[in-house]
Amino acid sequence: MLNDMSIVRAGREHIEDIMKVEKLCFKIPWSQQSITDEFVNNEAAVYYCAVIGGRAVGYGGMWQVLDEGHITNIAVHPEFRQSGLGSALMEVLLEEAKSRGLTALTLEVRRSNLSAQALYRKYGFSDGGMRKRYYADNNEDAIIMWKRLE
Ligand SMILES: CC(C)(COP(=O)(O)OP(=O)(O)OC[C@H]1O[C@@H](n2cnc3c(N)ncnc32)[C@H](O)[C@@H]1OP(=O)(O)O)[C@@H](O)C(=O)NCCC(=O)NCCS
Repeated sequence: MLNDMSIVRAGREHIEDIMKVEKLCFKIPWSQQSITDEFVNNEAAVYYCAVIGGRAVGYGGMWQVLDEGHITNIAVHPEFRQSGLGSALMEVLLEEAKSRGLTALTLEVRRSNLSAQALYRKYGFSDGGMRKRYYADNNEDAIIMWKRLE
């Protein structure tokens, strides 16, 4: 783990940095408006950022839907991967879910995204179905993963 990394609740001050992370991580990045809605406006959402030297280099978040958490995204700047940031973001989301009394967490991940699937399996997620041709850019299937919480 990087020494000077901290995990903080996402806010307006992180949007500019996270837009850069989005563009580096995804073929179809969220727009500035979408990130603002998620970080600031959506009361059903909770997001955290990984901050290093005052710069947000990763983020992850979820929506609470009744007693379930739907993880929408976890992304880490390519220069900072495989240093534990994705794990730290997943751990804070698990804590958040437990503190809210959620019974389960779910997410969707591209079939080809083996590194993300490995991160999710490390934290106890297992395959729970598939959405065929879910991603519009290349018709890739989504794997649905679930984790039951105690
Ligand atoms: C998935 C992602 C968030 C992981 O972030 P990270 O900071 O590299 O994750 P960590 O360093 O905490 O690694 C956690 C686990 O992920 C898995 N992992 C991470 N990178 C991996 C790789 N290149 N290959 C295989 N497994 C990998 C491993 O299981 C690892 O656990 P270990 O270190 O005990 O072996 C990062 O690769 C990323 O931003 N990818 C692009 C965005 C994305 O696809 N997000 C998921 C959308 S569903």
